[in-house]
Amino acid sequence: MKFFNTLLLTGLAVLTSVSAQANCPARNVTVEEQRALFDGFVRTFILEKNPIKAFESYIHDNYIQHNPNALSGKQNAINAFRNINLSGFRYTLISKGFDNNYGWFHYRLDYPGASQPSAVTDILRYEGSCVIEHWDVSQQRPANPINPIAMF
Ligand SMILES: *[C@@H]1O[C@H](CO)[C@@H](O)[C@H](O)[C@H]1NC(C)=O
Ligand SMILES: *[C@@H]1O[C@H](CO)[C@@H](O)[C@H](O)[C@H]1NC(C)=O
Repeated sequence: MKFFNTLLLTGLAVLTSVSAQANCPARNVTVEEQRALFDGFVRTFILEKNPIKAFESYIHDNYIQHNPNALSGKQNAINAFRNINLSGFRYTLISKGFDNNYGWFHYRLDYPGASQPSAVTDILRYEGSCVIEHWDVSQQRPANPINPIAMF
């Protein structure tokens, strides 16, 4: 039993380190692999609603952040997500695309306390197998919009 437990723990440690290390540090990948890694990030972040797992698996340690409300660095991003209660957040993916080391995804974000949903686009730049840089843009419908057309 003791031996079995040790084996199990060793196996788990290997699995954990593989899933956290497989993509980052960056290694050279083909365009198809890079696109698949991007799809994996979007799936984990938006559809599984698991940003911590998404960042642990797909983000470069020296991640450059352009959002003025967050700091650069993978660990800073993970720490920030640990402090957010995501259970009331709803993400609805609208579209995504990938070309020439850049991936982007556009979604509707509803979160508790917000008067309006946000239209958000995240733009990710890849260095090999890892996301090295991020920009985002976010918009909410104002109180008296000029445009009657729905945002979503
Ligand atoms: C990727 O390939 C380039 C040249 O094609 C090389 O300079 C670089 O060191 C490689 N990076 C990795 C992580 O293997
Ligand atoms: C997290 O958010 C949900 C939904 O808004 C809420 O019901 C829950 O009480 C919150 N949990 C904590 C620990 O604040």
